[in-house]
Amino acid sequence: MTRRPRLAVTGSTGLVGKALCRAAVAAGWDVVRLVRAARGEPGTGEPGTAAWDPATGAIDAQALGAVDAVVHLAGENVAGGRWSKARKAAIAGSRGPATEALCRTLAALPAPPKVLVSASATGVYGDRGDETLDETSTPGQGFLANVARAWEAGTAPLAQTGARVVLLRIGVVLARDGGALPRMLPPFRLGLGGPLGSGRQWMSWISLSDLVRAILFALGNERLRGAVLATAPTPVTNRDFGRALGRVLRRPAVLPAPAFALRLLLGEMAQALLLSSQRCAPKALAAAGFRYEHGALDGALRAALAKG
Ligand SMILES: NC(=O)c1ccc[n+]([C@@H]2O[C@H](COP(=O)([O-])OP(=O)(O)OC[C@H]3O[C@@H](n4cnc5c(N)ncnc54)[C@H](OP(=O)(O)O)[C@@H]3O)[C@@H](O)[C@H]2O)c1
Repeated sequence: MTRRPRLAVTGSTGLVGKALCRAAVAAGWDVVRLVRAARGEPGTGEPGTAAWDPATGAIDAQALGAVDAVVHLAGENVAGGRWSKARKAAIAGSRGPATEALCRTLAALPAPPKVLVSASATGVYGDRGDETLDETSTPGQGFLANVARAWEAGTAPLAQTGARVVLLRIGVVLARDGGALPRMLPPFRLGLGGPLGSGRQWMSWISLSDLVRAILFALGNERLRGAVLATAPTPVTNRDFGRALGRVLRRPAVLPAPAFALRLLLGEMAQALLLSSQRCAPKALAAAGFRYEHGALDGALRAALAKG
């Protein structure tokens, strides 16, 4: 009997990780979840898991077994609270340094994995106004851009083994049960939604199901390597995003949230996550033959908000 290909996943308890693990098993992968040992997770020692310490990169190699591929999604949640010094340190430390430590360990395995799909974010471009951005655009400025740059660079030790490394620059993930969308819903449901700040900033988004499909596609497609945008081909301004959400919820979406109020409430995070602009025009996925299920925003919102 031929053995099923084996896939290791970090960040498997997150929004993307949970959906990915389910889909990967359905697609025929033997999935092993890399579980943070430092937290004393009960999963450690469970079948289908291997302990992993992001701080040192140490992995329980026996539990890991011989893996063909790795999807690396782990990282401190960027929108999980006001950016105190400690939170910024956790966000940064769990990206660049943790990725590098992980990739050093993977590279030193007797048989290093042949492919790594590593999460990055459209935040790598910084705040770029109306400029159209693709995989060849230069990274930008600011805290998140610096974090993402280091995150991507952290994969170098594994790339040096000849492994194919895909740096997935993920946009705002639209899903019912996590990420940005559920946080936006309460004001919109009350008819109190609307543009954030000027509303002219661009949002590059992707549905959770398309993101999971894109990750599985990237695992199997030899043409993809290096930076790959995981965003739908139809970015929208924040004002148009609000209008679309209002349409789907059948509520008015005209009340603006002034930029100064958002900055007062959320500090630096407001500028980086809500008010900055990334107008991404993904090229690599489509050129490799990927087909989006949700290429347009209204359909993606309807699917994300449908009772499941
Ligand atoms: N959701 C979005 O809109 C979006 C957009 C752009 C980029 N991304 C990136 O894509 C990746 C997956 O996103 P997601 O929405 O699934 O994130 P998520 O729900 O926040 O999950 C991330 C996972 O990372 C692990 N983790 C949390 N804190 C950590 C820390 N300090 N050190 C190491 N690992 C930690 C946890 O998994 P374990 O408990 O299993 O270790 C957690 O479940 C993230 O890196 C995220 O930054 C997401």
